[in-house]
Amino acid sequence: MRVVLSIGGAYFADAVRIKNMAVILDELVEYPTGSYRLYVVTGGGAVARHYISIARELGANEAICDYIGIALTRVNARLLISALRNAYPEPFCDYTSVRAKLPELESGRKIAVMGGVTPGYTTDAVSAILAEYINADLLLNITTVDGVYDADPRKYPGARRYDRLTSEELVRLTTREELKAGSRIVIDPVAAKIIERSGIRTIVLDGSNPRNIIDVIIHGRHHGTEII
Ligand code: UTP
Repeated sequence: MRVVLSIGGAYFADAVRIKNMAVILDELVEYPTGSYRLYVVTGGGAVARHYISIARELGANEAICDYIGIALTRVNARLLISALRNAYPEPFCDYTSVRAKLPELESGRKIAVMGGVTPGYTTDAVSAILAEYINADLLLNITTVDGVYDADPRKYPGARRYDRLTSEELVRLTTREELKAGSRIVIDPVAAKIIERSGIRTIVLDGSNPRNIIDVIIHGRHHGTEII
């Protein structure tokens, strides 16, 4: 089973969280049946937003701010690689290099890790494009909220949470959002469009307890939002 995981930047804020996440990912690729192949895309989180806001204050345009965000996502990719036992040693910077290395990654049970790729979207879109490109069986979006809501639940306590959502509904929800560098949306609109066109099975999941990742991949159980 080939799984792409988009892990939100919040999980790279300290060594303990990174280690907890790495333990789970290692456990999955070392699983005795040998059937799980993992491709991880790391977000930039608060650190990326911090540097983006400094750059904006200095007059940088949005594309430059995006490149700053991309640089920070790659720093997080390196942090995760440092914590993993089974990582491919270098972060990937584009989709084609990952695809070219598929046989080596999969026979060696290595976890591929990459950050952002190009301005104009976020690592949600990177993970969706990667999932489409390598024909992944599952795309997991690991975030700090327990699924997709019709508004940001941190700002609107009455926001409605979805157990299931069609990809068309997801596109409708996300295209209302502004796509500036560092903007905080649960799934970016580019990712939603890729999920819609590719039909990849996608689950948005709270990763505060990384065991949730094992539950969904091995047992198919989750409390997130499934995009159908
Ligand atoms: P993130 O993917 O971390 O954005 O990329 P995010 O939505 O803030 O996600 P969380 O908070 O980590 O979950 C950080 C910023 O880097 C730029 C964008 O500006 C994005 O907001 N970026 C990232 C790109 O321009 N292209 C990419 O491929 C990735």
